[in-house]
Amino acid sequence: MVIVAACGKKNEASSSPSASQAAAPASESAKPSDSAQPSESAKPADKKVVLGFAQVGAESGWRTANTKSIQESAASAGFDLKFSDAQQKQENQIKAIRSYIQQKVDVIAFSPVVESGWDTVLKEAKDAGIPVILTDRAVDSKDTSLYKTFIGSDFVEEGRKAGQWLVDQEKDATKDINIVELQGTTGSAPANDRMAGFKEVIASNPHLKIIASQTGDFTRAKGKEVMQAFLKAHKDIDVLYAHNDDMALGAIQAIEAAGLKPGVDIKIISVDGVHDGMQAASEGKINFIVECNPLLGPQLMEAVNNVLAGKEIPQRIVTKEGTFTSDQAKEALPSRQY
Ligand code: AHR
Repeated sequence: MVIVAACGKKNEASSSPSASQAAAPASESAKPSDSAQPSESAKPADKKVVLGFAQVGAESGWRTANTKSIQESAASAGFDLKFSDAQQKQENQIKAIRSYIQQKVDVIAFSPVVESGWDTVLKEAKDAGIPVILTDRAVDSKDTSLYKTFIGSDFVEEGRKAGQWLVDQEKDATKDINIVELQGTTGSAPANDRMAGFKEVIASNPHLKIIASQTGDFTRAKGKEVMQAFLKAHKDIDVLYAHNDDMALGAIQAIEAAGLKPGVDIKIISVDGVHDGMQAASEGKINFIVECNPLLGPQLMEAVNNVLAGKEIPQRIVTKEGTFTSDQAKEALPSRQY
């Protein structure tokens, strides 16, 4: 279990991927800070830390595993966790954050559904002296003092890994390879970044052509619906790039219903590595999965403790992740935790 702590840019690449699925330990680089805010000083020993967590929703297997990790880790840390589910709506997350500010929680953590539009509420938290930690997804705020750290994956790198697999597979292609893309939630960091990383890498081969791209909102149902539309509109799809396993699984249903063989007639690349995705990969229906680790709870709780103890923590904590071909998925499946 390893993490790389990197300051600054959200798209800084993590090196040497590992197929580890356990949450990485939080950085050991935390050290006492001279500039801790008054409200961030140590709490009386008998008072429970109150953590407000505003979750994106319950849109995918990944999210379910992430929620479980947050809840279990908060319980193990002895925190009083206030948890809300925003049902993939930014307005609900903002409401939840405002309610945590009103309740004067000790720390607010959240996984922003989209990247933009957070400055006002983050400023309100800062003015109230409540530190904020981002997990899983980034915000595009220029003012990085609005949050203490961002713990999560490098989504651009995930997109690059997906693209690199395809570039390697198709290095001898003499005709165009038609790709359809199922994007995650519009405006979300993983959708923006997985698209950017993928496009950057496939640009090296002019035969790799994205012929259609649409959001499937990270859900199985929408993945199926959009794939049905893709199949209707295009008779010559060679590859599906899905920004998560759930959309790929929905698309597989559409591909099979159309009388085609997923993984053979249409090659499938997806991101996450949740149990059902790994199962499909081990059956050869998904050809390649880029891992995205949802087990961020232990790192978050450690960051909360460090922030409250007035220690400095890195502005960016990147989770290390691996990739799986069908054979590797078969091997890893029995010991998969989520
Ligand atoms: O932000 C992480 C993404 O959100 C996961 O890849 C996806 O499955 C989830 O819904």
